[in-house]
Amino acid sequence: MIYSAHTPIRVAFLGAGRIGIMHLTNLATFPGIHVVVVADAHLEAAQRGATIVNATRASADPLAAINAPDVDVVMIATPTGTHPELIAAAIRAGKPVWCEKPVALTLSDATTLRDLAAVHKVPVMIGYMRRFDARYAEVKQRIDAGELGAIERFRAVSIDAAPPNLAFIKTSGGICIDMLIHDFDLALHLVGPIDSVHSWGSVLVDPGFHDAGDVDTIMVMIKFANGALGVIEGGRRTAWGYDIRTEISGSMARAFVAAPGAMPSDGDGAPARVPDQSFANRFVDAYVTELEYFFACIRTQKLPKPDIADAMASLRVALAATTSLREGRVVTIPND
Ligand SMILES: NC(=O)c1ccc[n+]([C@@H]2O[C@H](COP(=O)([O-])OP(=O)(O)OC[C@H]3O[C@@H](n4cnc5c(N)ncnc54)[C@H](O)[C@@H]3O)[C@@H](O)[C@H]2O)c1
Repeated sequence: MIYSAHTPIRVAFLGAGRIGIMHLTNLATFPGIHVVVVADAHLEAAQRGATIVNATRASADPLAAINAPDVDVVMIATPTGTHPELIAAAIRAGKPVWCEKPVALTLSDATTLRDLAAVHKVPVMIGYMRRFDARYAEVKQRIDAGELGAIERFRAVSIDAAPPNLAFIKTSGGICIDMLIHDFDLALHLVGPIDSVHSWGSVLVDPGFHDAGDVDTIMVMIKFANGALGVIEGGRRTAWGYDIRTEISGSMARAFVAAPGAMPSDGDGAPARVPDQSFANRFVDAYVTELEYFFACIRTQKLPKPDIADAMASLRVALAATTSLREGRVVTIPND
């Protein structure tokens, strides 16, 4: 379907939880986008979301929302384990999809979706919003322009200010698949293919993480296919706010992205301010830019990225890092 600049795009939005409500609040300000239905397994949540965007209706039936004749595009912010069924239903209905990361919890589910999207020729974008953050986008441009020279090292810190609730943790796939997958995506996007990983983890914040089969503190060492080395430090609590930092060192220069104010001594010249408390503050603009880009792609019939294949690359690394955590060994990333 071709949308002119004047044709409203009619959206079914699935999942009005922690991040879904944030996206709906943004979508309410988007010209030319009409969320006609908000669906959530809990009708009250759907109703809350529907009120924010002035949707035509709220529903507890996501499949009916996807297949409704007045819906053009499907947006998904439900728990990760539900993504494959919902993405597949939207693809079969021939409706373009934007879905929160990760695409799935397993590679076999992700492969099925990638192949289904190819057969039905339906665009599917996965929500790695950090790529749309102005400072990360600038670093990507500098790397692509050769300003850093050959990349030799990648360092990242990804630590929540406070842990999400344990019910969420149990469905999240674990810290590598839920959280560090953002850093794996950036590492692949900015540096290139990853050859192998080695993880170390601990439970230092809340024993509930142990009961959930997860850790709350982690280090992952990375070896890139080009020989560059990386380390990612992850965690679920700080005393100084949401702490997201990335440093990429090349043969000619270094690029550094930090949350302004989170670390007063971060030395990047940013003015001191109240630390970010969560992804919703730190990436407030990136979430908007990401969705503006998605709708621009739909209107101009361009294939949006990151797509399912990109999401599979970071999922492969996250699964390998999880295996390494469990088995205490270096794990090589499997090829496609
Ligand atoms: N990009 C980011 O920065 C970011 C941040 C947080 C979460 N996420 C991702 O967003 C997704 C949702 O996370 P969340 O923290 O909002 O979770 P959440 O548990 O707060 O919300 C999920 C919502 O989906 C509803 N739901 C559950 N199963 C459903 C189904 N089958 N159909 C319709 N609704 C259903 C739940 O009732 C709930 O309201 C996850 O995949 C997570 O990884 C991404």
